[in-house]
Amino acid sequence: MINPYEKLLLENKAWASEQVQNDPEFFKRLSHLQTPQFLWIGCSDSRVPADKITGTQPGEIFVHRNIANMVVHTDLNLLSVLEYAVVYLKVSHVIVCGHYGCGGVKAAMGNHSLGIINKWLRNIKDIYRMHKDEVDAFTNEEDRTNKLVELNVMEQVMNLAKTSIIQKSWKTDHQPHLHGWVYGLDNGIIKTVCEMEAGTHIDPLYEYDNL
Ligand code: CO
Repeated sequence: MINPYEKLLLENKAWASEQVQNDPEFFKRLSHLQTPQFLWIGCSDSRVPADKITGTQPGEIFVHRNIANMVVHTDLNLLSVLEYAVVYLKVSHVIVCGHYGCGGVKAAMGNHSLGIINKWLRNIKDIYRMHKDEVDAFTNEEDRTNKLVELNVMEQVMNLAKTSIIQKSWKTDHQPHLHGWVYGLDNGIIKTVCEMEAGTHIDPLYEYDNL
């Protein structure tokens, strides 16, 4: 009997040799350079693996994941990933991908204290408060959660557009294109819920004029 973690290492060896069999230059090529076109901001949920569900290969998609796919303007981790992807890798597309049935969104709608994560989920409570009538119009809990999942993705795309990183890149490079998507755990299909082309004007309050 092998330990579950040992299985991961064995699978890794098998995967690496399969890659080399299919394409002897695979690792040589990738070790020199990555030129992904996409930045993916997704939920940490283990059922939503960015590359598997989009059929992308190593080198094609730059990934940041956190609970409930949030773009929080004080999150140094997210901002570092965003700046690196946009300014240095020059990705053409930034995708925020949520998923129906998201546990983080569900928890944000409830009243149970979960510890540190309360502070993270507070951001989603604010979105719920802003759209309470629209969300509560649904009679069953699952529909309410899923509505807030979509609204959350839209808000996070808006949060991207509010950053000086995106606004500056829109001005100088006319990219990236922003996308809001939601993945269905029950059918594996991604639904597009919103998009924002480079240069889209947002509420002037958030637009910087000296970038
Ligand atoms: Co989730």
